[in-house]
Amino acid sequence: AATVRYEAESAPATCDGTIDSNHTGYSGSGFCNTTNATGTAAQFTVDVASAGTATVAIRYANGATDSRPANILVNGATVQSASAFSATGAWTAWSTKTVSVPVNAGSNTIRLAASASSGLPNIDYVEV
Ligand code: GCU
Repeated sequence: AATVRYEAESAPATCDGTIDSNHTGYSGSGFCNTTNATGTAAQFTVDVASAGTATVAIRYANGATDSRPANILVNGATVQSASAFSATGAWTAWSTKTVSVPVNAGSNTIRLAASASSGLPNIDYVEV
């Protein structure tokens, strides 16, 4: 099936921080800049045609020097712990990280939750 893009700034997505637009190259009208703290999250609600394994592409920028780890939760269950979001070189340099996760048919929540005090990288969107 064709992938669908879910913007971090568009409800029902949520962002524990601010929707910013000060670093160019993002899609839509902005991106999620989470507060720099453990546990801060960006959450998406996505539709999947059938149960199984879905490929989720996460577009992000990490202009810090260190990788920023995040737990990835699907429907509240952690499916990846401390998944690395590598430095991209600049806050205007956007990369895509792809993960495979278990999903139900229909609506699913995908939550990226910072597992270190640096918070998440800036999150632009997910495609599923
Ligand atoms: C800078 C940058 C933000 C980023 C933040 C961070 O302030 O402008 O976009 O979110 O660093 O370290 O997370």
